[in-house]
Amino acid sequence: MTLLQIKDLSAFYGRTQALFNCSFDVSEGEFIALLGSNGAGKTTMLRALSGLLHFEGSIAYAGTSLGKVSPQRRLELGIAHIPQGRGTFTEFTVDENLSLGATIVTSRSQIKEDKERWYDAFPRLKERRDQLAGNLSGGEQQMLAVARALMSRPKLLMCDEPSLGLAPSITQEILTIFKTLHRDHGMTLLVVEQNVDITLQYADRAFVIEAGQIVASGTAVEMVNNEDIKKSYLGVAG
Ligand SMILES: Nc1ncnc2c1ncn2[C@@H]1O[C@H](COP(=O)(O)OP(=O)(O)OP(=O)(O)O)[C@@H](O)[C@H]1O
Ligand SMILES: [Mg+2]
Repeated sequence: MTLLQIKDLSAFYGRTQALFNCSFDVSEGEFIALLGSNGAGKTTMLRALSGLLHFEGSIAYAGTSLGKVSPQRRLELGIAHIPQGRGTFTEFTVDENLSLGATIVTSRSQIKEDKERWYDAFPRLKERRDQLAGNLSGGEQQMLAVARALMSRPKLLMCDEPSLGLAPSITQEILTIFKTLHRDHGMTLLVVEQNVDITLQYADRAFVIEAGQIVASGTAVEMVNNEDIKKSYLGVAG
């Protein structure tokens, strides 16, 4: 089933156009990588999807047009967005950050159950549950950002450059977590990355954005073997 259908999407910052007629579909349960260099429009795409930016064209989620749907309602529908830079509340503890993520779950017992589930999945967060988020390492903060987003029980988890500032081994750890969420929980993932070679080891399919346009798409295997992608993003002469 198609979960997300994006058609002729254009997005704007005031009069500046940052996305130009982008179209793509995401099926339920897919792990998609959205690739591209600095300033390409990756963050803009996620902002348009979570309702933070004016757009033209259409975005349908589970068959419903998101045109007039507020960011809060999109969260309730199961769209979670982990922003670039993580957006954790540094002056709150790990546990408080998780509570703040439980925006659409109201019963205390459900929140407790969800926290325990994600503490089991992220043992390093469990050990540090009473520490201030600001005192965590970069990798731990990224894990907290993921766990906090999971507290809203998303169907579609969007994450903007999780690898930023992290060592390759930590990036792989985070991508492994996404792969597990995808495999064991059927979650649909849209992960923005510049770390192309590592991300293509985990994603099912990828789209490349350049100057606000989708310029390439294919399965991860097709992308790895695509000469243009190799030259531009994989640092390998074709
Ligand atoms: N708040 C803003 N106001 C005006 N222009 C913006 C704003 N945010 C982004 N832009 C412009 O929109 C374009 C796309 O930016 P965007 O942040 O989506 O790129 P990106 O692919 O996420 O880049 P990066 O990898 O550096 O995060 C860029 O030309 C950028 O300068
Ligand atoms: Mg960005």
